[in-house]
This record gives sequence, C-alpha cells and structure tokens, in this order.
Amino acid sequence: MNPLRRPLIAGNWKMNAGGQQSCLLAGDIARGASGVRRVQVVVAPPFTALAAVAQEFAEAQSTIGIAAQNMHPSESGAFTGEISASMLHDSGATWVILGHSERRHLFGESDELIAHKVRSALAADLRPIVCVGETQAERESERTLEVIDRQLADVIGPLSQQPGTGVIAYEPVWAIGTGQVARPEDAALVHSHIRGLLAAVSEELAATTRILYGGSVKPDNIAAMLAVADVDGALIGGAALDASGFCAMIRTAQELAERAEEG
Ligand code: PGA
Repeated sequence: MNPLRRPLIAGNWKMNAGGQQSCLLAGDIARGASGVRRVQVVVAPPFTALAAVAQEFAEAQSTIGIAAQNMHPSESGAFTGEISASMLHDSGATWVILGHSERRHLFGESDELIAHKVRSALAADLRPIVCVGETQAERESERTLEVIDRQLADVIGPLSQQPGTGVIAYEPVWAIGTGQVARPEDAALVHSHIRGLLAAVSEELAATTRILYGGSVKPDNIAAMLAVADVDGALIGGAALDASGFCAMIRTAQELAERAEEG
C-alpha cells in the first residue's frame, strides 16, 4: 500500500442480500466499521436494496459509500429493465461497479459498452470501479497483460479527465468465487503493469488512481494482498456477506495503512 492513496475496501453483494437482509448486513457493517477513518469503505447491494441501505447508513451516521453493481449508459429512454446513473443517485449510490467479469462473461458486455458506461458514470458524477481480468485460458496462454491492455484501452482516457475519481479493480476471472486467490507476485505484476498504463497518460493519474485486487479475498489472505506495493485495496464478493469477516478485513487494511503512513 502506498500512503499517498487512501485504501479502499469494497464489498460486492452481487445478487444476494436484497430487502430486509440488506438492512441487517448494512447495520452490522456500519457498527463494525465505525471509527475507521484511514480506510474508505464501499458496499454494493443489489438495486432493490440501495435506498434501504442508504437509509440505514444515514441513521447510523456512517460514511460508508454505496455502489450499484451496474448501470445503463443512457440517461433515460425505452430500455426495459435498465437503470440510469441519475436513478442510482436518487437511490443513494455515489459509486458504480462497471465491467465486472460476470457482466462481461455471463451477460456479454463488450469493452466498448463498458467504456461507454464509464464515460456516462463520470459525466453523471458517479465514481466508477472498473473491473478487468483474464480468464483461466487467457492466463494459460500467457495473454494476461494483453487482455488487461485491451480492457483498459478505452477506459483510461475518460478516467484521466478526472484523476483520482475512478478506481480500477484487477479481478482474475479464475480467482472469482473459486477460493483460488492469485499469488501476491502475480497480482504485483499486473498491478504494476496497470500503474504503468496510467503513468503513460499522466503521473497524476498514476499517483491518484486506486487499483484494487479482487478474487477470493478473505480475512486470512487480505494482508498478503494489501502488502503488495501497487495494491490499494480489495473488491470482495462472497466474504463481504459476512459482516464480522468484512469488518475484520477493514481493520486489517486500517492497520496496514497506519503502518505504511508511519513509514
Ligand atoms: P469473490 O468475488 O470475492 O467471491 O471471489 C469477487 C468479485 O466478484 O468481485
């Protein structure tokens, strides 16, 4: 972790914890993370629970941010079943996860569509968490960096217009929900490559953009990932649904950030 970038711990609830359960989970996380200042915390509930979670955090006077898990790039119109950036704002979200591998691979989202969404999110004052990552087959054929380059090609330009606003999450597809976490040295390679792509556009962009690691992050492996120089936090799926484990990971990040600050 670099003391210049505030670590970010984000929980992606996916299609879990809608309704009542989302309020219980949000309340437990707000209590468990109260007093944490050095780390920024964001949770991404399903659309139907955004407003309820926002209400829960407001009542708890929590500064935890709320992300949606997806959005449509248009402002409004005949797009049955879709949600726009302004609707997310109305629901209390200030962040949005874009290009998650489940969106790319299960719902066929292209790099082009994801870049369009990133531009729309930034224009609408929503902070994008843009996910990238290679599949197992791409990894085995040593195409990881090529895939990352392709996925970020049309995204870095828009991010550079507002340095520090957007976040990139490196999530190797083979590590998501599999319990098979990347080795810190593998993450180090990809994270420093992404940092280099940002630096090629501007030093300010490279210095201010947080790059998260995601894929089977758990309380017992998060410290090793956060110890990697260019890892600025984590995007956590399954393990974010357990409030005590999620809060333990926030505290680990807080301790490591304090240590990094002390130098
Ligand atoms: P996981 O999911 O932590 O359950 O592997 C991560 C993600 O999909 O963002």
